[in-house]
Amino acid sequence: MVTGAVFADLGNDVIGVDIDQNRVDTLNSGGCPIHEPRLPELLKHNLREGRLTFTTSIPEAVLKSEIIFVCVGTPPVEDGGTNLSQVEAAATGIARALNSYKIIVNKSTVPVGTGDFVREVIEKNGVASTDFDVVCNPEFLREGQAVRDTLQPDRIVIGSASEKAAKIVQLLYQALNAPCIITDTQSAELIKYASNAFLATKISFINAVANLCEKTQADIREVAKGVGADSRIGPAFLGAGLGYGGSCFPKDIDALLQASRKLGAEISILEAVRAENDNRVPRFVQRIIDRLGATSRLPLEGKTIGVLGLSFKPDTDDMREAKSIEICHALREAGAELRVYDPIATENARRIIGDEGIEYCQSPYVAAKGASGIVIVTEWRDFIQLNLNRLKTEMVEPIIFDGRNIYSPEQVTDAGFEYFSIGKTPAKP
Ligand code: UDX
Repeated sequence: MVTGAVFADLGNDVIGVDIDQNRVDTLNSGGCPIHEPRLPELLKHNLREGRLTFTTSIPEAVLKSEIIFVCVGTPPVEDGGTNLSQVEAAATGIARALNSYKIIVNKSTVPVGTGDFVREVIEKNGVASTDFDVVCNPEFLREGQAVRDTLQPDRIVIGSASEKAAKIVQLLYQALNAPCIITDTQSAELIKYASNAFLATKISFINAVANLCEKTQADIREVAKGVGADSRIGPAFLGAGLGYGGSCFPKDIDALLQASRKLGAEISILEAVRAENDNRVPRFVQRIIDRLGATSRLPLEGKTIGVLGLSFKPDTDDMREAKSIEICHALREAGAELRVYDPIATENARRIIGDEGIEYCQSPYVAAKGASGIVIVTEWRDFIQLNLNRLKTEMVEPIIFDGRNIYSPEQVTDAGFEYFSIGKTPAKP
């Protein structure tokens, strides 16, 4: 949706295809099925200008197009590998409708070698190899800032065996004035996985250093600032917290690990990255139990805890691999009653986390009612300037467990709270 809307905004005619009729109807009537800043306006504007339409018909879209982007899901299979059935179905549908030379661009995150697989599927369906080219053009946008990332990308990666096809795709991005890396298909495919794996490694690394900070007088925020000031390292993705979630990092780390193992070149550092990430929530919940809990089978029985932020990151309603799921379940298992709040993701969260012992609230202050602790799980902007005095008056015990380090210890202790954050010893008022 984001890529299509941006290409339409640059003046191209774009036809979006989905197998879900409801989604297509929503989009054609000017709606937007997900929460993503700036996207609804962009979709509406280009729909109105007649440059953007949506259909469930692959043939209709293929016949009218010169370039066809495949942006389908590539979900994980049990052993951590990648299920390519949606890629295969899309390639088959495209092959059956192909009427002249077209460029097929794979934007989905796929294992090395998928470009060749797409080529084989298309040829198997009777299309001559001269009637199409396959290009790999991985997607690097982040949820919550997808439109910005698409309009101002750090780089465009285009991989293809065909110089002609690569140049045509490059033209499509010309107006963005972004650095363009033209390479072979397999390198392009690996660039995507390696980028995500490296970013996840940065996060797990800083989280492991945060664990060490908690055993010393060091403060992870100061450490990250100092480390990130080295231009060889850079400050981005050194935010210590509850670990990475979302639809990409966890899945992509598993896929790269599995693929590298299969090829006999295991990237074993990723085992440690994953292990550190898996340990974030249990470790944090243990700190909550150590502070609030009794030594019984249900250490938090009789306690109410407020949880702020449910989506996997701010500015999205996406709950995939959100840390709130694990945290809410762990706190419930320890016997706590929960009062939770999210600015956008409440309905999606309710479907996944359930209602048992959990009250979904209309504001952070309502979530704080009768609570012995507030847990910050997602760093929504809305939480940064909460009225801490008002929050405190709602609570039974004024304690904040900040899983994303959104406050400074002084700010919170001055307001009379006990404060537990990531990578720093606890602070008292
Ligand atoms: C990621 C990649 O950044 C993007 O390039 C790719 O196209 C898709 O996957 P996304 O999952 O949308 O994007 O969000 P991102 O901002 O990368 O955050 C991923 C996870 O890492 C979140 O759970 C976030 O909370 C966590 N994170 C991020 C940290 O814990 N610390 C940080 O410093 C940064």
